[in-house]
Amino acid sequence: MIDFKSKIVSGLSGLIESVEPKEIEGMIEVPADSNMGDFAFPCFKLARIFRKSPNLIAEDIAGRFEEEDYLESVASVGGYVNFKIDKETYVSDVMGDVISQKDRYGSSCEGCGKKVVVEFSSPNIAKPFHIGHIRTTVIGNSINRIYKFLGYDTVSVNHLGDYGTQFGKLIVAFSSWGVREDVEKEPIKELLKLYIRFHEEAEKAPELEDQAREWFKRLENKDPEAVEMWQWFREVSLKEFSRVYSLLDIEFDSYAGESFYSDKMPEIVDQMRERNLLEMSQGAEIVNLEDFGMPPAIITKSDGSTLYITRDIAAAKYRKETYDFYKNIYVVGSQQILHFKQLIKILELMGCQWAGDCVHVPFGMVALEEGTMSTRKGRVVFLEDVLKKAVERTEEIIEGKNPDLENKHEVARQVGIGAVMFQELSNSRIKDYVFSWEKTLSFEGETGPYVQYTHARCSSLLRKGGLFEAGDFDASILTDEVSMDIIRQLGKFKETVSEAGRKYEPAVISRFVVDLAQLFNRFYHEHSIVVEDLKVRRARLALAMCVKQTLKNGLALLGMQAPEKM
Ligand code: ARG
Repeated sequence: MIDFKSKIVSGLSGLIESVEPKEIEGMIEVPADSNMGDFAFPCFKLARIFRKSPNLIAEDIAGRFEEEDYLESVASVGGYVNFKIDKETYVSDVMGDVISQKDRYGSSCEGCGKKVVVEFSSPNIAKPFHIGHIRTTVIGNSINRIYKFLGYDTVSVNHLGDYGTQFGKLIVAFSSWGVREDVEKEPIKELLKLYIRFHEEAEKAPELEDQAREWFKRLENKDPEAVEMWQWFREVSLKEFSRVYSLLDIEFDSYAGESFYSDKMPEIVDQMRERNLLEMSQGAEIVNLEDFGMPPAIITKSDGSTLYITRDIAAAKYRKETYDFYKNIYVVGSQQILHFKQLIKILELMGCQWAGDCVHVPFGMVALEEGTMSTRKGRVVFLEDVLKKAVERTEEIIEGKNPDLENKHEVARQVGIGAVMFQELSNSRIKDYVFSWEKTLSFEGETGPYVQYTHARCSSLLRKGGLFEAGDFDASILTDEVSMDIIRQLGKFKETVSEAGRKYEPAVISRFVVDLAQLFNRFYHEHSIVVEDLKVRRARLALAMCVKQTLKNGLALLGMQAPEKM
């Protein structure tokens, strides 16, 4: 892409020698109203240097600025020098890039040579993978894709919750009341039942708690019987989780969960002791964080067993040693903000200079219209059920609107799943929100299906319009306002991806694709595209092709498919 801004900066530097080019670059603005120009240079700060009014300075600069072919006009307006880029040059430049870069359009090399760990999803085994996990799963997947597109070498990690005292309870419960075949048939539902039963029975028979602690100790000491049972819980749970991941098209490079760090714990605790970070408190070892305005973090319990945060300290150190990350990103709900603050502070106190490269990316909660969820009470909405229901409902909609569609089932999967994903990604991540079927599956408004539908509309135009040589079109046909608005939006894509990465915010991209779809639909309603005049037809189809490609690339960054027909 031509760097118009740099060209303007170098033109201005020739005229204003007393200001550094870097500073000039920082002063350049993009006017909110594109009628004013594509770039503007404010002269107010120069007034003091030149002892002239901003108006006069702007007029002087505008009068002397060398007009090159890439410029349509340079004008002084109220203390600003406004630059308009020549429309045809801009159209050819942007569309030329989309057409030549295709699936790579919008990508960059800003992260080349850098490694980023993106940890997301991380459900707890033997517990439901429910609607509450959807945000970490979908947002994390998107952040992983965005970083990859920005050139980073990413490692996606599923930090499974597969360790802790609850497995002692589960072993006791399974040995007492479990039936192997039932667990094999519906692992998580059965294991959850057993877990709930354990808590009910333990109220009457507190010795069960002791037995559970005993079993967990055995697990920690690698007692074969305990390990075997735990491994089986893990295996059957993972099998169930994988079904969800495959529906969502999500893969992980590593499933190193909490248990992976169990044997690395003594070393970590030793290091903390050496640094005098640990204090005894009622038999437990803690890190006092009072000086930093935080409650203490418990590192080992009185029986010597370790905790969630201990495993996180080990995990962070392991990741640094293994991947030498540039950033270590945790996509975990806002309930754990304090946990990650403590974690990062402790790493800092342990002398890890890279502690600041660990980033917690929090997000708000999802509520259901029916009210809040409660695992203990069995009021849970399984993620798999939500996804399947979304596909079913989409199938019904397709049956009503377009019953002859080929590949109906696959399209329903792409659209139904996409709808759910988009819903998660279209609110800025930190906001709490209420999940609504109605809104999620609407084909209108700012939804996933709406964007996918616009993509399919472009495909259909390209099929109808006949073959043409991409790149061979007359840019002057696309200089009207409606077309130009689309092209300006296309031209912003690369910067949008970069902003989404910088802010860890996929919503920046979902906003972008909705805006692009709306701009294209306005164009579609105002202009006929497949017209007799071949020159006009070719140009408009080329634009449709660029919109289609950019929507597809944007959707891919959200983890969504872009079907050709809907
Ligand atoms: N398993 C945890 C949960 O379900 C989330 C793990 C988050 N990641 C971490 N490194 N602590 O709440």
